[in-house]
Amino acid sequence: MALLEVKDLEKRFGGLKAISGLSFSVEKGIIFSIIGPNGAGKTTLFNLLTNIYAPSSGAIFFKGKEITKLPPFKIARLGISRTFQNLQVFLNMSVIENVMVGCHLRSKSGLLASALRLPSVIKEEKMVRQMAYEALEFCGLPQYASRPAGGLPYGILKKLEVARSLASRPELLLMDEPAAGLNDTETAELCQLIKRICDSGVTVLLVEHNMSLVMEISQKVLVLNYGKLLAEGSPEEIQKNPEVIAAYLGEG
Ligand SMILES: Nc1ncnc2c1ncn2[C@@H]1O[C@H](COP(=O)(O)OP(=O)(O)OP(=O)(O)O)[C@@H](O)[C@H]1O
Ligand SMILES: [Mg+2]
Repeated sequence: MALLEVKDLEKRFGGLKAISGLSFSVEKGIIFSIIGPNGAGKTTLFNLLTNIYAPSSGAIFFKGKEITKLPPFKIARLGISRTFQNLQVFLNMSVIENVMVGCHLRSKSGLLASALRLPSVIKEEKMVRQMAYEALEFCGLPQYASRPAGGLPYGILKKLEVARSLASRPELLLMDEPAAGLNDTETAELCQLIKRICDSGVTVLLVEHNMSLVMEISQKVLVLNYGKLLAEGSPEEIQKNPEVIAAYLGEG
């Protein structure tokens, strides 16, 4: 069984079909990249997978279970996490607090228990802090834990977002242009980090414009064009596909 299966997905914004007749599946344990020109529908697809947008039609299955109509927090709880194309960092909070936000999906305490600071809540907070710290360590940021996020370099904030997305211990991680705005050194570090995420057992769905990064780390690549699947295959197959070259790779 595929980890993620998308069946005949469609999303219309008024007269525009941002995603149309899209079907594909993602096997567990791989780095699966989605590429395509600006406006091809990549971010829309992520928003559909996490039900930030409801699809106009079609269905999405995660581990064989239909998740199409589940609210975003339930999808997150099932094990799908994401990073955003635009940084979503709380600049007035410390680095570790930002990461702890990603763990709170898993916390079980109710409002009353939290307000009363019951021992169970204090214990849980300790556990959340520990999970957040481990995610920071994994991303090479433990030395920044207590620093305020505001004022840190962009490259560190991008890694912080990855740490937050990992803190909830997802099985599937959606990354929307993680290399955008990074310099060559930061991109090389990110490349290693994504490989380590995959090696740790997390399946990665990667949207990226950096073609050398995509071709180096992906097992499978899907090309979107005007919301439709243009091609799907290994990086080698995609690089020599004439339709892909004409529509996309040839441009740059
Ligand atoms: N909320 C929305 N309302 C109306 N149109 C939208 C909305 N979100 C996206 N679109 C349109 O859907 C199409 C796909 O946009 P999307 O952001 O998914 O592209 P993308 O592949 O992520 O592009 P980029 O590479 O620039 O990030 C575009 O034409 C965009 O203008
Ligand atoms: Mg986008």
